[in-house]
Amino acid sequence: MERALKEARGEGEQRLRRDLSALDLTILGVGVILGTGIFVLTGTVARNMAGPAVALSFIVAAAVCACAALCYAEFASSVPVAGSAYSYSYTSLGELPAWIIGWALSLELTLATSVVAVGWSGYLSSMLNGIGVHLPAAVSGGDGSVMNLPAALLILVLTGVLIAGGKLSKGVTNVLVAVKLAIVLLVIIAGAFLIDTANYHPFVPDAQPTGKVSGLQAPLLQVLTGITPTAFGVAGILSAAAMVFFAYIGFDMVATTAEETRKPQRDLPIGIIASLIIVTVLYVAVCLVVTGMQHYSKLSVQAPLADAFTAKGHPGFATVISVGAVVGLTAVSLICFRSQSRVVFAMARDGLLPKALCKVDPQHGTPKINLWVLGVIMACLAAFLKFDLLAEMVNIGTLFAFAAVSASVLILRRTAPDLPRAFRTPWVPVIPLVSLLCCLYLMLNLQVITWIGFLVWLAAGLALYFGYGRRHSALGKRAEETPAVKTEAG
Ligand code: ALA
Repeated sequence: MERALKEARGEGEQRLRRDLSALDLTILGVGVILGTGIFVLTGTVARNMAGPAVALSFIVAAAVCACAALCYAEFASSVPVAGSAYSYSYTSLGELPAWIIGWALSLELTLATSVVAVGWSGYLSSMLNGIGVHLPAAVSGGDGSVMNLPAALLILVLTGVLIAGGKLSKGVTNVLVAVKLAIVLLVIIAGAFLIDTANYHPFVPDAQPTGKVSGLQAPLLQVLTGITPTAFGVAGILSAAAMVFFAYIGFDMVATTAEETRKPQRDLPIGIIASLIIVTVLYVAVCLVVTGMQHYSKLSVQAPLADAFTAKGHPGFATVISVGAVVGLTAVSLICFRSQSRVVFAMARDGLLPKALCKVDPQHGTPKINLWVLGVIMACLAAFLKFDLLAEMVNIGTLFAFAAVSASVLILRRTAPDLPRAFRTPWVPVIPLVSLLCCLYLMLNLQVITWIGFLVWLAAGLALYFGYGRRHSALGKRAEETPAVKTEAG
């Protein structure tokens, strides 16, 4: 704990520049949260799971995130170091639990960066197709292609932008976020004039069996309880909430920048909660507009926001929205990437990963080697992975980390009651408990195959910890040194 706070006060050896304000953090939050979830997932989820009531699914997911955000904010304001849930757990739960959480976070952030880049390339293709430019089929990332070259190239360009330094990436981020917000507001305002209220009936479509009674694609909860899976109805709204949870991923990433924030004690809670409120209002508005413009059963799966305008006879708006989506998803990918580099930075600083990953380049003040290593891994993943298979993996990693943060708030209140906390989660233990249980419930709504993938990832993480991290960890080395000193002294 002492060392974590020392690093936070800027007394550590490896420091990042402190130049972010509360407004920067809010922009960062909105920048990363608004993305593939609203631009892509809305259509699939409304069409297959919830109908117009997808707006309610977004509210359910927002309520879970709000509880988790209040817990995150307490941690972030009391242990303001780089690394997010990883660092907070390191100080409260110890090294092994922290490693597991950091490893789960890495799953979230690495895959999210790559998945968003893949979504970005889909919009890029559709935008280019609109102006008559067609990418070679083999490398376009579309059906039947062998790789997704545009997504991989995007990640390599972002690697360069992040290496160039905080100032440049902050400026780039702000511009990208402004464009994305403008596009979302365009959808809401222009779309509001095209709503046909008949499309809202029924607002909550009747429940229907889905046919996925068993197998790897069924939600774990339904396999465990033997319930016949249904779509739509109230259960559909809840399953959809587990899926659209993806759309909220990002507010936690604000916490990963604590070490680069001017006044982390005050600005982090403001940044996290403000960005969550802003996006929830926007998401609900977009859902109501889009399901009002087109009957939910007719929404497109690839580009629902743009295609709803085409269906209403406004292809010009559709093109502008596609361009905005390309720009917006660039920002999401950039911020996920940046956050992942910070988590790896913190893990390396603690000795759990090779030290080269926390070396700060003196010229730019950024962790250059770390960014290159991650950039190459993410570019490879983006080149070869499929969006829909991995979005759920992102969700499970994130929900696991949120559940752990909620549990950690409870533990830290008992083990370190006097720790100064600029922000205190209200109604403890109710909020952390609700957050913990809701995160676990949403995890149970994810597919069996997602659970298998997650358990394999955790097993690999444990092998790495026991094979490397435990022997090299700074904490472990200090523990080894202490008895030696005693012997000498004795
Ligand atoms: N929340 C981010 C998105 O929807 C990950 O793309």
